[in-house]
Amino acid sequence: MYVVLIGAPGSGKGTQAGVLAETSGLAHVASGDLFRAAVQQGTELGRVARGYMERGELVPDEVTIAMIMERLREPDTARGVILDGFPRTVEQAQALDRALAARDQQIDLAIYLRVPTEVLLRRLSGRWICRVCQATYHEVFRPPATPGQCDACGGELSQRPDDRLETAERRLQVYFEQTLPAIEYYRRRRILVEVDGNQPIEPVAAEMLGALGQTTR
Ligand code: AP5
Ligand code: MG
Ligand code: ZN
Repeated sequence: MYVVLIGAPGSGKGTQAGVLAETSGLAHVASGDLFRAAVQQGTELGRVARGYMERGELVPDEVTIAMIMERLREPDTARGVILDGFPRTVEQAQALDRALAARDQQIDLAIYLRVPTEVLLRRLSGRWICRVCQATYHEVFRPPATPGQCDACGGELSQRPDDRLETAERRLQVYFEQTLPAIEYYRRRRILVEVDGNQPIEPVAAEMLGALGQTTR
């Protein structure tokens, strides 16, 4: 089972992918998390990605597709994957289709998390993530039990540099220009399900699990 989560920055992809992966046992593959880990480790990939991320631009398709394909060759992805943040261009969606077809697999479901723009900026500006395990919190909507500390692993929480207002606004603009066409790509393929992401975390998760259940049946 291959599921794509698609939606604007701050729509809740990472938050919901965590819930879905835990419930379904599918692997959680997040392009942004992979890039941030590469930046932190100072690898060649991280060196290439860093500038794009700091500007709120997409990393070039070639680089992103190669990174994801490598990740999809790891054994934990054999039973299926929840993809978070990839694909987000039509080019990436087509490359993924080709790669899955080559191993007799396909995308079963694409979930579009719909959230109004003004809500997105509020979510991004209050987000805190764990430096160790990348768990995601929000100072108002999902506060950690102890301020500044991860509930899951005790790691230190920090804010993402690309959540600064100007960069967040640029990310939104890039989303409208480059990712909306990818959503239309999945709509035309008739595997797109829209979920109202402008509700608290639990009801959104319940709707998404419902969509997943419908697809497995
Ligand atoms: P990436 O890390 O993927 O960032 P993004 O798409 O901008 O999405 P976010 O992670 O900001 O939002 P999210 O939807 O995961 O929301 P979250 O669950 O955290 O990408 C970063 C960069 O990497 C890109 O700009 C690009 O440079 C590069 N990159 C990555 N993928 C790429 C690709 N495929 N191609 C090219 N470049 C790529 O939630 C946000 C906040 O809201 C949190 O604080 C959370 O606690 C809170 N929240 C979540 N749900 C709710 C709710 N229902 N109610 C209230 N609050 C909520
Ligand atoms: Mg995310
Ligand atoms: Zn943690």
